[in-house]
Amino acid sequence: MSDSQQTSSKARAKDQPISFLDEDWSWSDPSSWPLSIKFLPVAVAIVGIGITVYFPSMSNQTRLNTLFADNSCTGTFNYTFQIARAKAHAEELSTHDWEIGTAFEAILELISPEKSVFGSNPFPKGEIPIRYYKMDEALSYFHDTVPISEGKMLAENGYSVSDPASLGVGSIMLGQTSPKRLAAVERQKDYLLDGAPRYANGAISHRVEVAELWSDAVSMVPPFLAYYGVAKKNLTLMREAARQCELYREVLTIREGERKGLWKHIVGPSEMADGGAWSTGNAWAAYGMLRVRATIATWSTSRDEMQDEIAALDSYILEITEGAMRSDDDDSGLLRNYLGDSSWFGETAGTALLAAAAYRMGMTLDRSTAERDKILKWADSKRKAVVRHVDADGVAKPVVNSLKHGQREPLDGINPEGESFLLMMGAAWRECVCSGRCSPDP
Ligand SMILES: *[C@@H]1O[C@H](CO)[C@@H](O)[C@H](O)[C@H]1NC(C)=O
Ligand SMILES: *[C@@H]1O[C@H](CO)[C@@H](O)[C@H](O)[C@H]1NC(C)=O
Repeated sequence: MSDSQQTSSKARAKDQPISFLDEDWSWSDPSSWPLSIKFLPVAVAIVGIGITVYFPSMSNQTRLNTLFADNSCTGTFNYTFQIARAKAHAEELSTHDWEIGTAFEAILELISPEKSVFGSNPFPKGEIPIRYYKMDEALSYFHDTVPISEGKMLAENGYSVSDPASLGVGSIMLGQTSPKRLAAVERQKDYLLDGAPRYANGAISHRVEVAELWSDAVSMVPPFLAYYGVAKKNLTLMREAARQCELYREVLTIREGERKGLWKHIVGPSEMADGGAWSTGNAWAAYGMLRVRATIATWSTSRDEMQDEIAALDSYILEITEGAMRSDDDDSGLLRNYLGDSSWFGETAGTALLAAAAYRMGMTLDRSTAERDKILKWADSKRKAVVRHVDADGVAKPVVNSLKHGQREPLDGINPEGESFLLMMGAAWRECVCSGRCSPDP
């Protein structure tokens, strides 16, 4: 407030006595109270809530202060980077369907971790609970950002089969109170299973025009099919989610040499084919499989029936993690944009999501295994490298231009999905620390 404003409001206060100093009412008779007194508690409460919610989030951006903040480990967690700014970038800059679906997933994991499939009981009574979106940051973001689709996919996308499916989980959650959203989800599922082109082995194509497999698709389609399997109480859909991961791996995995276990980016007939092990692509694959694995393991029906699939997914995720660990040789501490190719720069987006995947994978492994310690330690070191590359505005750099993954120069600007990956990394580390399996930074 400026000096002149202060002076004039003081002057006004002197000229006009505040109404509760008037004589014609008394404290002992509430019916005589002026409106300003009657509603004073409401006004104080509104201002109080405003201050509680708004002020701390301005003063300390390495912690998150939400309506639900409390004194627990999760509520007071120090992420050691400007995570509130990163979250704002993810929300404001995500425009493509998969970016929005990823931002939604990231905010859910960060703000409402108990509702994500990594929560301990996301399907109480074996069902998707009703979610009141107005009370939930991730869901109100989704509600306000994603219109209800009228078409055969959850977003207009003439190029990609799988990207619109990344809007599936949010649509199913909102669909519990919106039949129209649920009908759009059913159409998306029908298109994936019956309409979309398939690769020779039965894998659902990433693209509309040609049957082509991109590692990215593993974060879009299988987590949606798995979640929809719970919604429909349909084990066939859940099995299809796991099978699609297997089919993608069959085609994309590199079987020999230094990069063994890592995944190629794109296999198919078009000029887009890319035999390189794109860092973000490997992260999409690992993290998508982790979400499917978590969905299987937290739905009582599939947990009992699909132990073999869980074991298979674990081995696929470990393959990628170990491949990334072997290729980790850049001085920056970041993984290269193409893993195992020393001509590429160290890059934050793929490193952040692979660190998140390593935390999640490490947490599922047995306490006694040396493998677990090794993976969690590696996740810590990759997280610290990423944090060193996040600036005071919450922007991670150097980062790939995800729309041109082969671009030799880092993106000049902010990568929306890269900002979402920071949130996923923060949420995964927080869970690891708060469950006593990782240490906070000294
Ligand atoms: C959060 O952690 C960072 C890094 O360890 C530290 O510099 C910062 O002071 C901590 N912030 C708070 C509010 O504790
Ligand atoms: C489960 O989903 C599959 C694939 O959409 C469908 O063919 C099958 O009829 C469904 N099963 C039940 C019991 O609804």
